[in-house]
Amino acid sequence: MHAMLKQEAEDGQTTLADPNFRADVLNGLSLNPRAIPARWFYDRRGSELFEAITELPEYYPTRTETALLERISPELGALAAPDAAVVEFGSGSSTKTPILLRAIQPAAYVPIDISGDFLRQSARALSADFPGLPVYPVEADFLRPVPLPTEVASLPKLGFFPGSTIGNMQAFHAVDLLRAMRAWLGEGARLLIGMDRVKSPDVLVPAYDDAQGVTAAFNLNLLERINRELDGTIPVDAFRHRAIWNADAARIEMHLEAQRDLAFTVDGRAFHMTAGESIHTENSHKYGPNGARMLLRAGGWTPIREWTDPEEWFTLILCEAQTLRRAP
Ligand code: AVI
Repeated sequence: MHAMLKQEAEDGQTTLADPNFRADVLNGLSLNPRAIPARWFYDRRGSELFEAITELPEYYPTRTETALLERISPELGALAAPDAAVVEFGSGSSTKTPILLRAIQPAAYVPIDISGDFLRQSARALSADFPGLPVYPVEADFLRPVPLPTEVASLPKLGFFPGSTIGNMQAFHAVDLLRAMRAWLGEGARLLIGMDRVKSPDVLVPAYDDAQGVTAAFNLNLLERINRELDGTIPVDAFRHRAIWNADAARIEMHLEAQRDLAFTVDGRAFHMTAGESIHTENSHKYGPNGARMLLRAGGWTPIREWTDPEEWFTLILCEAQTLRRAP
């Protein structure tokens, strides 16, 4: 079966394989070093595994950010416009959202997510918990232009980008995305963003290589997804999950390392890997306070408030859309 034609989804239905996924995988497997964008982790299984990661004892970001959000929620009410629309980027099945919604009581909520199933499920759950709140889910990849629903066009916007998802982008792309968000959200918008801090590799590495092997399964699921959706013959068992702290680039890198020489095909194209060679699948950049502020400013946002936890492992930053002027 040719991957451009059809794939059998987990629910037994036949759907078209995503041509962007096919292009990214075929191109990424031909690169030296090989690399596939992390955004393709999130099929249904990948999204479930990510949810499981967020509950792991080693994976501190979610619980640290959630506790921080709880702690600052009394202040947040006063910091957002009273009739704001909250626009959440990459909402998934976020447990952080209700904390923010309770704190600021917005006029509308717009969750944006690439995974339609998860998006609809969590939008339904939120509507049940917040009966008076209009919810306008948008199924989209926010790395491309996002059309916001016309219903929120005239409302002031508060962007919400938690989870340190910005860290999964290289600075060049992170700045592009921040600038795009500024353009979508408009003049006068604010953005509440979560960013993971640089810290000891003794904390960072186990967070991305947990004892139960959930992160390994999350990483390896990418190969299973390729086999499923792109007619691949990758011997998944021949790969090992690796998490590495790259101090120069201030990031955790995830790789899939071949344990032996191997050959496989994807969508009819042949690939060979030698033992020890790897596919780079994710970067998770960590920021110090100055680096975080610099990134946000370069992206068109002025930090106006910052909060961190007692160990200074994670930070939430509230920013204002810069009014762009030519003069210094
Ligand atoms: C979604 N993102 C912020 C996670 C992270 O920490 O970089 C993805 C992840 N990868 C492995 N574990 C979690």
